[in-house]
Amino acid sequence: MSSCLDAARPETAPAETSRFRPAIHFTARDTWLNDPNGLVFYDGVYHLFFQNNPYGNVWGNMSWGHATSRDLLHWTEHPVAIACDETEDIFSGSVVVDHGNTSGFGKADAPALVAIYTSAYKAGSEHSGTQAQSLAYSTDAGMTWQKYEGNPVLTRNSANFRDPKVFRYQGDQGDCWVMVAVEAQHQKVVFYRSEDLKSWDLLSDFGPANADAGEWECPDLFPLAVDGDPENIRWVLIVNVNPGAVAGGSGGQYFVGNFDGVRFTPDPGSIVAPEGLASLPDTDAGSAALRQCLWLDWGRDCYASVSFSNAPDDRRIIIGWMNNWDYANELPTSPWRSSMTLAREVRLTTVNGSARLVQQPVLADPCAGEELPTSKGQMNADTLELRNSALRLPDAVPGSAQIIDAEILPGSAERFDFRLFGSSDGSRGTILSYNTTSAQLVLDRRQSGNTCFHGKFASVESAPVDLEDGVLKLLIVVDHCSVEVFVQSGKVVLTDLVFPETENRENWLSAEGGSATILKLAVSTLT
Ligand code: FRU
Repeated sequence: MSSCLDAARPETAPAETSRFRPAIHFTARDTWLNDPNGLVFYDGVYHLFFQNNPYGNVWGNMSWGHATSRDLLHWTEHPVAIACDETEDIFSGSVVVDHGNTSGFGKADAPALVAIYTSAYKAGSEHSGTQAQSLAYSTDAGMTWQKYEGNPVLTRNSANFRDPKVFRYQGDQGDCWVMVAVEAQHQKVVFYRSEDLKSWDLLSDFGPANADAGEWECPDLFPLAVDGDPENIRWVLIVNVNPGAVAGGSGGQYFVGNFDGVRFTPDPGSIVAPEGLASLPDTDAGSAALRQCLWLDWGRDCYASVSFSNAPDDRRIIIGWMNNWDYANELPTSPWRSSMTLAREVRLTTVNGSARLVQQPVLADPCAGEELPTSKGQMNADTLELRNSALRLPDAVPGSAQIIDAEILPGSAERFDFRLFGSSDGSRGTILSYNTTSAQLVLDRRQSGNTCFHGKFASVESAPVDLEDGVLKLLIVVDHCSVEVFVQSGKVVLTDLVFPETENRENWLSAEGGSATILKLAVSTLT
């Protein structure tokens, strides 16, 4: 069993931490990663570029790493795509398929992939001290990249202008490219338009609003049909914030509203604080208001989520960085450090009269039907009664992720708990509880394993969750060092990292203070 004394040990040896390597989440082989960048689907392949330090496993030397996948679960890492040099670090950004060859980098019948990234200029550059937007392009389906000689293509002489997300906008006046980026320290999203990706005109800005105690980073903007109705399109503006997210440190908020090609106007129901909450952060009213904002994830470890461009069948699929800047550089793994979240398909659904995002993990190849390709059933139970008692579930299996799909009627129980990665004496584990009185789902990782590598890691997160027809539906994905929980068909999501002791693999479900009925409990593994 680990204790806080472990924090005094020298860097954990690779062999000891290979057991934390996830089965179905992307990690770089032996280096550091942060934000997903340039998510794009092209010619049957999903490309994941990512903030990468090619020379180490802490943040630095920022370049775009590269990985590809056909099923969004299994990834192949490739050589660095866009490397830093003596003048610039390559910060976050996006990739578009330039179908109309508007940039001239490709050919009419062979479109280029164009990366729009932030040049974070170094002391050796004539632009030193500023961040500006630059281009690189690929004419071999994303495998090799050339920087554009006319870089940067957009500057504001700002030290914190970054994270461009570009998409094709189809408006009444025709099509154009739209960029959303941030003035990070002013808590503003800025909107630009372009015909050719090279010359950009300012359209408008948005913010501060809602959670604004930290820098605004990695925005995204996309339309979705509410409840699948093509006549009812709303726009989702994702704004990541660090620090000042609902669970502490970094996290992603979103706004629902309208984008008319110039300006984003939030729906009144998605605005808690029109001028931002920063003036209230330490008051009870401030923390209550923070919980009213719209959150992509209520856990500690989902940041910088952005969506794929050019995804098939108009699906909107996002990936986040499964980490938190509070302790990111100190995660107890080596030589690799950090992973991405699962890919999540997002939709808009009406909840209590307002359009809200729901997320489902992509656990099957989106192009290959609904079957889980390599899943193995471990347990499939229905209609079980738990009264002040505990049920042992199949153990976690090294080398596999585990998926727990449960529907529970809490009935008279005051709470029920999943204990994941538990010890046989019951003293250790990651506890996921539902409290029927407070209607809160709580994820407690204080006894989850190694929590001592950073003072901010041991934590308890909670999210408000209403039962639906008296039932709580949970889809829990556990993958060696992470727990992702999709609640009520993805209306609420909680993601936390955990670093359990090798020997603690037991999973349990228990009910306290009354009787709960398990309507469905399916446990399977995925490799
Ligand atoms: C978000 C972020 C971005 C920036 C990148 C640098 O995690 O700070 O704003 O582009 O990371 O690595």
